[in-house]
Amino acid sequence: MPRVHLPVLGAPLPALPRSPLTGEPAAADRDVLLDGQERRVRYLRVSVTDRCNFRCTYCRPADDPEFGARTELLTFEELERVVSVFARLGVRKLRLTGGEPTVRAGIVELVARLRRVAGIEQVVMTTNGHLLGRLAAPLVAAGLSAVNVSLDTLDAARFARITHAELAPVLEGIDAARRAGLEVKLNVVALADVNGDEIAALCRYAWERGCVPRFIEHMPMSAGALYEPGNELTAAQLRAAVEREHGALVPSAARRRDAGPARYWRLAKDAEREIGIISAMTEHFCGDCNRLRLTAAGQLHACLGHDDATDLRSILRNERTLHSVDAHLIDAIAASVRAKRPGHEFQRTGAGAPGKHMISIGG
Ligand code: 5AD
Ligand code: SF4
Repeated sequence: MPRVHLPVLGAPLPALPRSPLTGEPAAADRDVLLDGQERRVRYLRVSVTDRCNFRCTYCRPADDPEFGARTELLTFEELERVVSVFARLGVRKLRLTGGEPTVRAGIVELVARLRRVAGIEQVVMTTNGHLLGRLAAPLVAAGLSAVNVSLDTLDAARFARITHAELAPVLEGIDAARRAGLEVKLNVVALADVNGDEIAALCRYAWERGCVPRFIEHMPMSAGALYEPGNELTAAQLRAAVEREHGALVPSAARRRDAGPARYWRLAKDAEREIGIISAMTEHFCGDCNRLRLTAAGQLHACLGHDDATDLRSILRNERTLHSVDAHLIDAIAASVRAKRPGHEFQRTGAGAPGKHMISIGG
């Protein structure tokens, strides 16, 4: 019987094929991440767990989605291998998401390992902030450079109603993140009856701490089950609410590059005071999409708004040699990027939602 060589997933990677002049990936590899609409994928969002220590009403269905068994999660070695392939194709930035990424056992070690993958220059995270009080400093030591923390309200009772969790640890987590030197953006899902009266106050809170507030129009996921038509605050209403209290906004040049779907504005009178708006519903942004999403179980989703996915885990677990793992991953990624939809089909009635849940894909 010939010996079968199983993949040694932790083994050192072969050198990346790069241009000697620019240090960029070889041309053939670079084209893998260019989609049919000429959009270039610049970063990968990696969900590292489908679990969460919060239960936000707009994100997590009351009867929980099936959580995957732990063996379904990509291991750290598998994540390193997938990320190394994306890095070879030109991805320089990773965003770790969940569920809640900080509840994945060994998250600090995972950040350190992914940060060390050749080609990866930036590892950032989207988190509910609850565990940042103790994790911010170790995460920075591991190489994390920025966090987006979800913060929909500054009122503890409201916060508990939305998240079923406590506000104080999150506020401490935000301060710990700033002290540890992380860049911090605050993600606010804007809903009229939840935080419509707090938009300006959330800006003030963020700016006082050197953070950028980002307002997100609620998007219908979970087949529309958690969506409340008519309760949304639109991008235009959000800008008006900020301007009423803080003065005129002008487009911010500072963050335009690689911002993807987020649009940034700043106070006309103070360039340091910026806001971001992510308006999937009223100011369509799909033409600037620059990302792919990998679920914790290794399914690659080219678009947030559709359920199509490519199974990378089965390639990682079934292929026989290191070389063929990489080659097959590249083929699968190329097919996924080629099939990337031009855009979502969300409608303000809640129609057009994908079946998948926000908690399983991480935003
Ligand atoms: N629409 C828009 N944003 C959402 N988030 C969670 N669910 C939704 C939704 N349905 C936000 C979270 C977090 C980010 C990842 O996405 O608040 O900040
Ligand atoms: Fe990109 Fe899909 Fe998001 Fe649109 S909805 S920005 S195409 S991921």
